[in-house]
Order: sequence, then structure tokens, then C-alpha cells
Amino acid sequence: MCGLQGKRILFGVTGSIAAYKAAQWVRELVKEESQVEVILTEAAERFVTPLTFAALSGNPVYRDMFDEAPDRVMAHINLSRDADVLVIAPATAQTLAKLASGMADNLLTSAVLAARIPVVLCPAMNCAMWTHAATRHNLLRLQQLGYHVVQPGCGSLACGETGDGRLAEWDCVRETLLSVLQTADLSGRKILITAGPTREPLDPVRFLSNRSSGKMGYALARTARRRGAEVTLVSGPVALEPPPGINVIPVTTAEDMAEAVLSRSEQMDIIVKSAAVADFKPISCQSLKIKKTGQGLQLDLVKNVDILAELGKRRHPGQILVGFAAESHNHEQEGQRKLREKHLDLIVVNDILGSRTGFDVETNQVTLISQFFSRRLPLLSKEETAQQIWDAVVAFETPTQLGS
Ligand code: PMT
Repeated sequence: MCGLQGKRILFGVTGSIAAYKAAQWVRELVKEESQVEVILTEAAERFVTPLTFAALSGNPVYRDMFDEAPDRVMAHINLSRDADVLVIAPATAQTLAKLASGMADNLLTSAVLAARIPVVLCPAMNCAMWTHAATRHNLLRLQQLGYHVVQPGCGSLACGETGDGRLAEWDCVRETLLSVLQTADLSGRKILITAGPTREPLDPVRFLSNRSSGKMGYALARTARRRGAEVTLVSGPVALEPPPGINVIPVTTAEDMAEAVLSRSEQMDIIVKSAAVADFKPISCQSLKIKKTGQGLQLDLVKNVDILAELGKRRHPGQILVGFAAESHNHEQEGQRKLREKHLDLIVVNDILGSRTGFDVETNQVTLISQFFSRRLPLLSKEETAQQIWDAVVAFETPTQLGS
């Protein structure tokens, strides 16, 4: 699963000034082709109108527990039966308190109590209300009851104070929705992923690097996290936002990356090396800027440590090791050679000659090679490619699925 397309989302809005942000989120969901049905509480209607949500969702809005229109009778039971996930944003302290004690005094709280689908709560309130012992206690109870709580952010609040209690950002909420809708088949696994290029300094202003954007590695990190893994992402310099819920370790040179990876490798269950590590570095970095002399310039380069090969030597029993290879030709032979020589379970061979595959594009075309199979995938988004890689990794843990 890669996005929220086709997902049926029951969206509850309660009475907070942050309700106006919920309107934007409904719009985002509809843009992503989710089907959205909205329930407004009475207090929510003080801040936003049903018409806003009806127009944005393309569906009539539910408000009244006792609506007698034929298709609305028993809405508190039926609405969640037709949904994949129920999200409440913003969720006020009052609604959290009601849900923590199992109250069902309006259409929204009744729908939550009747729901057999995941429920995601996005609290928003004043910071004193958020840190109050009663709210803390309610949140603990809600988590014990299995609700998914998206922690609010810190910042300036509508009341003029600054602190915790700001409605979370949409990216964070979207990631939570994707996680709760995805099978957690990597749950309990510690996964280390490398992403992006390395930079090998030449002088104070110049470096040797490559065209890796980090998109493939970041897609692997996001999707692994959605599948329940604890993810560490060792990232070279990229222009991407750190994905929520992931421990990101920024590095610059191949040597930094080697140190960051090898010092953590022992504790990892799965390691995926999608970074494009520079194979060579200048023999030394000049302390002063190299001047133009009117002549050419010869660079002396030395080999960098091959981190993946080193991981192959050190791997412990049960650890799964996945490498990447960026190849312009002889994909199969090169993939097989690297798989063998670096002691890998799986190698992902990138076709880097196509205009829509490999470096710095949104899509990828890869061949997955293990000792059991060689599988060429079609052109896919990098998130879809990542999901196929995780499917193959999960199959290593359930050997009956290998080769399928
Ligand atoms: O970042 P994007 O723009 O999304 O692009 C994705 C990608 C093309 C960078 C990525 O998918 C990819 O192919 N990464 C591997 C690129 C590469 O360095 O290939 P390679 O054949 O040179 O290296 C083989 C493997 O050895 C790789 O797993 C690499 O991480 C590893 N390696 C290489 C050299 C080195 N010194 N240490 C290493 O660990």
C-alpha cells in the first residue's frame, strides 16, 4: 500500500479554533482520491460550517444523532462500518475525556464507541489544558484502549500562549493514517537504511559527489516505519525533510557514513544500503582554495572503504543485508557478482540509463536478485519500489514464500 487513494475515511471535527485546518486536510484527502465522510460536533459548528465540509468532501455532513432521514437512521453504527479508518481532528480535551471514559453522548463519540476500525486522534488545545494531569491521565487511558494519538506540536497557540498543544502537521497525520492502514509485518525489527550521496572534500569550497537525491532511501525509510519497524536512516546531504518517527543521522563523507553504519550494524536486524557512496576520495583535502593556474589539474584519488562489503564480512546470523547497484548495462551479471562477493541476501539493481529511473527522479525500475530468484519490476514510484523490496525482505523471514 503506497497512498490513501481509495481509502474510506470517517473524519470527525470537534470544537477548537484548529477546526479550520481540518477543512484543508479534508481537501488534501479528496485530492488523494480518498472517500471522506465528515461528522461535526455541535461545538465544531461554532468554528466551521457544515457547508464548508460538504463542499470539500463532496458528501453530506453528519451532525445529529437523532436525524430521522431514512439514510441517516443508525448513522452512529453504520458510518464506521463503511470506513477504513476514523480520524478526529482537532480532538478537544473534552472529546478526549469523553472517549477515555467510554461516553457516547453525541453522534461522533457514539460512532467512535461503535467503531471496529482504527481510530486516530489529533489533539489540539491550550498548553495548560494539554499538560493538565487530567488530560495526561485520559491520554494514557486512550492509548491503553488502542487509540492512535498523533502528538500535537509546540508553537504559538491561538490563545496567545506558546507551548505544546498545536494541532500536528498534516504530513505527520498522513503518515499515521498510512501506518494504521498497513500490515505491521516489520514490527519489532530494527532497520538501518542509508540514503543520498556522500561528499568528498577537495578544498574548502569544492567536493566530489554524485546525483543521488536520497529519494529512494527516504522512501524505504518511510515505508519501513509504516510497516512497524524501528528505523535509523543514515543520510548523506540531501534536500529532503526528515520523515516523521525516524531517527535520522546526517553524514557528509563516505568515512562519516562508514563510522555511522558500522558502529550500529551489530544491533540491526536488517540493513539496506541504498546510498550512493563515493568509491574514491581526494588523497587529501587542501586547506586553501585550489587556484586556477591556466593549466589543467590532476587529482590524486584513493579508494574509500566499501561499507557494504565490510557489513557482509561482519553480519551476524539472522541479519538480513540488502545492497543496491547502479548499473548502466549487464544488470543481471553485475547484480549476481555483487550479491556473491559482498555476501548479500538481496541486491536491488537500478537501471540508471532510463530517463525515469535511478538518480534524482520520482520513479525507479529495478531488478531484485537473490540466490533464489531474479525479478524485474516494472517502472514504479520509489515508494512502490520500496514496498516491493520490503515484501521480498519479509519473505526471507518466512522461507515458504521465497521465489513466489
Ligand atoms: O537517491 P536517488 O536519487 O533516489 O537515487 C537512487 C540511487 C540510484 C542512488 C539508488 O537507488 C542506488 O542505486 N544506490 C546505489 C548506488 C551505488 O553506489 O551503486 P554501486 O553499484 O556503486 O554500489 C553498490 C553497493 O555498495 C551500494 O549498496 C552502495 O551503497 C555500496 N557501497 C558502494 C561504495 C562504497 N564505498 N561503499 C558502499 O557501501
